[in-house]
Amino acid sequence: MISALLPALLLVQCACGQSSTYVEPGVPTGTPIPGNYTGSLRPQVHFSPPQQFMNDPNGMFVDANGTWHLYYQYNPTGTVAGNQHWGHATSRDLYHWENQKIAIFPDSSTSYIYSGSAVVDVNNTSGFFPDQDNGVVAMYTLAYYTTEPGLQVQEIAYSKDGGYTFEKYSGNPVIDINSTQFRDPKILWHAETQHWVVVVAYAADFVIGIYTSPNLRDWTHASNFSHHGLLGRQYECPNLVQMPMQGGDPMYMLWISINPGAPLGGSITQYFPGTFNGTHFEAVDQVARIADFGKGSVSLTEYSGSFAWLTSDADNYAGQLFYGIPGDQKQVSMAWASNWQYCQLVPTGPQEGWRSSMSLPRYNYLTNLTGSGYDLVSAPFNIASQFTQELAFNTSLGNSTILLDYSSLPSGAVYFEANLTGLTASTLAGSVNFTFTSSISGESVRGGTFIGGDTWIDRSRTYGFDNPFFTDKFSVSPVYGGKGTWTISGVVDRSILEVFVNGGEQSATTTFFPTRPLDQMSIGAVGIAQNVTVSVAVWGLGDAWANYENMNGTVLGNVTASF
Ligand SMILES: *[C@@H]1O[C@H](CO)[C@@H](O)[C@H](O)[C@H]1NC(C)=O
Ligand SMILES: *[C@@H]1O[C@H](CO)[C@@H](O)[C@H](O)[C@H]1NC(C)=O
Ligand SMILES: *[C@@H]1O[C@H](CO)[C@@H](O)[C@H](O)[C@H]1NC(C)=O
Ligand SMILES: *[C@@H]1O[C@H](CO)[C@@H](O)[C@H](O)[C@H]1NC(C)=O
Ligand SMILES: *[C@@H]1O[C@H](CO)[C@@H](O)[C@H](O)[C@H]1NC(C)=O
Ligand SMILES: *[C@@H]1O[C@H](CO)[C@@H](O)[C@H](O)[C@H]1NC(C)=O
Ligand SMILES: *[C@@H]1O[C@H](CO)[C@@H](O)[C@H](O)[C@H]1NC(C)=O
Ligand SMILES: *[C@@H]1O[C@H](CO)[C@@H](O)[C@H](O)[C@H]1NC(C)=O
Ligand SMILES: *[C@@H]1O[C@H](CO)[C@@H](O)[C@H](O)[C@H]1NC(C)=O
Ligand SMILES: *[C@@H]1O[C@H](CO)[C@@H](O)[C@H](O)[C@H]1NC(C)=O
Ligand SMILES: *[C@@H]1O[C@H](CO)[C@@H](O)[C@H](O)[C@H]1NC(C)=O
Ligand SMILES: *[C@@H]1O[C@H](CO)[C@@H](O)[C@H](O)[C@H]1NC(C)=O
Repeated sequence: MISALLPALLLVQCACGQSSTYVEPGVPTGTPIPGNYTGSLRPQVHFSPPQQFMNDPNGMFVDANGTWHLYYQYNPTGTVAGNQHWGHATSRDLYHWENQKIAIFPDSSTSYIYSGSAVVDVNNTSGFFPDQDNGVVAMYTLAYYTTEPGLQVQEIAYSKDGGYTFEKYSGNPVIDINSTQFRDPKILWHAETQHWVVVVAYAADFVIGIYTSPNLRDWTHASNFSHHGLLGRQYECPNLVQMPMQGGDPMYMLWISINPGAPLGGSITQYFPGTFNGTHFEAVDQVARIADFGKGSVSLTEYSGSFAWLTSDADNYAGQLFYGIPGDQKQVSMAWASNWQYCQLVPTGPQEGWRSSMSLPRYNYLTNLTGSGYDLVSAPFNIASQFTQELAFNTSLGNSTILLDYSSLPSGAVYFEANLTGLTASTLAGSVNFTFTSSISGESVRGGTFIGGDTWIDRSRTYGFDNPFFTDKFSVSPVYGGKGTWTISGVVDRSILEVFVNGGEQSATTTFFPTRPLDQMSIGAVGIAQNVTVSVAVWGLGDAWANYENMNGTVLGNVTASF
């Protein structure tokens, strides 16, 4: 069924002239893989691959014309991990995605292209790009499977056409320390010292290696950042970026994914604010700060080796920040919205031929909310641009509930927000809850927030997937900042829910799998104090993929791609 969607196969070696490119039978080289985005579990404002299996976002950058490039870990031949390539898509707004041809292929049938990053070499420091300022250099981990466990080395590939077509560098690998646990390079430009920097995980050693280079080809080890925060079983997918700090100067932030030994199982992302002088990163303190449900919580400063309260099982991993945004502006990220504990089992594979979506694009910045400070705020990127119709708007909800039916909304995707204003320390009372329900099956996804207190999500009442690791309830304790307001907002998009408290001071990403589409919503408040105003809005979101469908409902992607 799936292969029927594939275009005429190009069973030839890549036309870019590499001897070191292996094309698995059935994988097209010069044209995107077509997708069917109409399935009832297919997100409409979130990115998901045209077919088959996706995991980490890779190589993300924004070019000089404002085109966002997303590459991703991709198995084009199955709905489970394996046979890793770099898939590719581009967007002008981070919601409407044009699928592009696969960007980077393995070297051989016994190697994989693992995660990595990309930069624009505007000054042609690499020498790959005489006469152009839009050359793109990608660095990825080449993982060998000739022996088990295989060697992992860092390689580069360069693109002269702005990130669509890559050639592998003949001098690869560029970093090889003879390790089987050495991966996920993320490059940045350090303007003060005028050199490139890469952070890369010595995954099993809980070390982030920092290397520098004048030209992206020759790399020198500069320092290590090790054994900070929660260790889990592996450090992965480091990012080192400049992040704006509200009320202060931008600072560097090192962000590390931990897999899989997060406290309650599953994967989490932690981050360290600090300083970086071009060779050495120093965290401001020893606090372990967690992104996406659990982040920035005061409790973590009282580290006692026990994190039983921490709900770490959210579907948010391997987050990456786009290259190309000045450090004093909010940084934009996307993450893989799944979890290694069940990503290869979810029902979208057998039912619709694809697995995993990305999180919403998010704005990120630091601010001081908690005692330890430097809390990461992560909110949807310009989501209002995707509003299509107002489903509800009530500026004085009081202690009541709005019920609405959105079964006629083509996307099945909804944004909602509830703002409480006029709060004082003594009027932090009551709660706001939301429920999305299927009118056919009665299945639902629910959540809510106690004003000034805990926020929770419950996906236990959807029955399309059952797995012991598919934790069904999450909660977190946001901090009331004394600003007189408390807000909860979120996006539900067919099989994924993201919730934001207080404008992204806390966030959560959860997938869920109903047997029938959710099409009704309620949002209500009870026990709200006098003089506190509850203002609620619900908006329908666009069905971004429909813009690219042909008459048969197939999204072909950029078929003008050159061969
Ligand atoms: C696309 O997927 C939907 C839902 O899975 C299915 O009903 C439809 O037949 C598919 N369309 C094509 C062209 O395969
Ligand atoms: C931006 O667009 C111009 C005009 O279409 C094109 O010449 C240039 O190559 C593009 N730059 C990038 C970085 O893609
Ligand atoms: C690389 O590591 C393997 C396994 O530890 C070892 O057998 C081999 O000698 C090493 N190769 C080099 C060049 O150091
Ligand atoms: C490019 O060169 C300019 C001028 O020397 C310099 O300011 C800038 O940091 C360089 N940027 C990169 C990415 O090479
Ligand atoms: C944020 O909090 C930290 C830790 O208390 C403090 O050192 C820093 O100065 C604060 N920054 C701002 C901008 O308030
Ligand atoms: C960066 O910091 C390290 C450690 O403090 C120091 O050894 C090194 O000299 C510093 N480099 C620069 C360029 O200041
Ligand atoms: C929200 O759910 C909680 C937990 O079940 C409950 O205590 C609260 O009363 C509910 N609030 C609303 C507005 O339904
Ligand atoms: C909401 O209910 C609380 C008590 O449950 C009450 O004190 C408050 O006055 C009510 N608010 C409104 C606007 O009716
Ligand atoms: C509500 O506002 C009125 C008028 O400002 C005030 O008298 C009253 O004490 C307030 N009630 C609460 C519960 O804060
Ligand atoms: C909630 O507050 C935000 C930020 O002030 C505002 O942009 C939005 O319009 C408010 N929404 C409602 C429903 O009042
Ligand atoms: C749509 O499907 C029909 C029947 O399979 C086929 O003949 C036609 O070429 C397809 N149209 C497009 C635009 O792919
Ligand atoms: C399609 O791909 C080609 C490269 O193969 C690229 O130059 C072009 O900009 C792409 N067009 C769109 C609309 O993405």
